[in-house]
Amino acid sequence: MYSTDLAYIHHAGFNAFAHRTAPELIDMLRGHGIRRGLVVDVGCGSGPLAAHLIEAGYDVLGIDASAAMIRLARSRSSRAKFRRGSLTATKIPRCAAVVALNEVIGYVPDPRGRLSALRKFFARAYKALRPGGLLVFDFMASAERRTYSAKSRSGSDWAVVVRASADRSGRALTRQITTFRKIGGKYRKMHETHRVHVYSQADIQETLRAIGFRVRMRRSYGQMRLLPGDVAVVAEKSA
Ligand SMILES: C[S@@+](CC[C@H](N)C(=O)[O-])C[C@H]1O[C@@H](n2cnc3c(N)ncnc32)[C@H](O)[C@@H]1O
Repeated sequence: MYSTDLAYIHHAGFNAFAHRTAPELIDMLRGHGIRRGLVVDVGCGSGPLAAHLIEAGYDVLGIDASAAMIRLARSRSSRAKFRRGSLTATKIPRCAAVVALNEVIGYVPDPRGRLSALRKFFARAYKALRPGGLLVFDFMASAERRTYSAKSRSGSDWAVVVRASADRSGRALTRQITTFRKIGGKYRKMHETHRVHVYSQADIQETLRAIGFRVRMRRSYGQMRLLPGDVAVVAEKSA
């Protein structure tokens, strides 16, 4: 997932969400008294959010499962640290906040609908957070308005075509992604299939509360509205 060409295209054409959400997220952190310290950016992609956080005075550790994304992120910022790893297993150091923007947790399979892998991630985040720290993420709670037969977008040296269909159960959205990237005068064609899982709001809330978080759910990050069916979560470890 997010191999070299799709990582390049995501970086070139799909970082707007992170750039627009970053100021809202920074306001939220400051509103909770988190003005400095380490922010762990899980599923950091090519590092757009990390750049804003560094600019705002935070230390940043970006973690992503894609080696290509980590390479891009490292090439863009020498002040943030980046590491390849999966949120299902990677260690989370002591920190002020853990963030996972843009449906990152949806990539974690949940075969029996028990949130087992996510529960472990939430518990590790809770342990790593200092009192008063925040876990902030968004997830897909409904795939209903997110399907389409084909959408395309292009830049000067790339193009992408995506089809999105929901499982009959409605528990996942599958995206068929075909990329075209200009290399040495010719276009290279690649394909990836992404399955983004749909979680129930009640299950996520209950799981976080059982761990000890105070939980609020929203349809936006501040002024930044989410895509239809997405929910933002702000989970606080009690001070
Ligand atoms: C839609 S992109 C979002 C990237 C970035 N957060 C942003 O807003 O631009 C999803 C990212 O999650 C990463 N990802 C998917 N599964 C992951 C996992 N299990 N652990 C860590 N990162 C993961 C992908 O490699 C990809 O970079």
